[in-house]
Amino acid sequence: MAQRAPYQPALLRLLHGAMVLLVPLASLTGAVVFSNHDGRWWRLPVQVPGDWIDLHGSVGVMLWPLTLLFVIYALSLGRQRLSRAANAAALIGLVLAVGSGKLMEEDWLRSGELDHAVYHLHLLSWLLITGAVIWHVLAALQRGGLSLAASMFRLERRPSDQPWRLGR
Ligand code: HEM
Ligand code: HEM
Repeated sequence: MAQRAPYQPALLRLLHGAMVLLVPLASLTGAVVFSNHDGRWWRLPVQVPGDWIDLHGSVGVMLWPLTLLFVIYALSLGRQRLSRAANAAALIGLVLAVGSGKLMEEDWLRSGELDHAVYHLHLLSWLLITGAVIWHVLAALQRGGLSLAASMFRLERRPSDQPWRLGR
């Protein structure tokens, strides 16, 4: 064993974990919304039953306050990590997707209004965050392999890990 296993601060793991759960959920429920109500470039072979706009909106409502906390963390205690381009890209994609989502109105797609600038921005940020997160995960794996990736999901906390103490 040459190196100590990588360790991530507990507060980062908590907030980041919420992103890992909620961002894919938002992305997938959003994909169903797109397929059911828009579908201009791509759609599922069937209309999926259910109120997916409502479902997606509920995921969004859980996601945005946690995103706010995560962004505050990343810009303050986590700032050093943002010098890695792939981390910064994931954060920018997240802010764009959540910010444009907050500006969406839930009745636009129901009433066939598919050309609002905010909606286009929301769709663009869907592509951006998807690409950014794939890059982010590949970059983490390339840099630190599975042990770095797994360090983000481990549950133990070192006694020396205090959120207000900068660094590791
Ligand atoms: C789902 C959406 C995700 C978003 C929005 C996201 C965003 C971020 C951000 C902004 C940071 C830097 C945090 C800071 O400044 O303190 C970060 C760090 C990190 N993320 Fe993610 N992430 C996501 C998913 C994942 C996944 C699935 C993995 C698993 C491989 C992962 C692994 C990591 C690792 C290992 C770090 C620490 C990297 C370092 O020390 O440079 N992330 N993430
Ligand atoms: C990772 C990708 C996505 C994220 C992170 C995301 C996030 C959000 C957020 C935070 C909201 C605001 C919820 C609220 O506070 O009311 C929202 C609303 C909305 N999003 Fe997304 N979204 C994503 C992808 C999509 C896609 C692909 C579509 C497809 C058309 C979509 C359609 C909508 C609609 C229609 C609303 C309004 C729903 C409502 O207010 O109840 N989103 N989104």
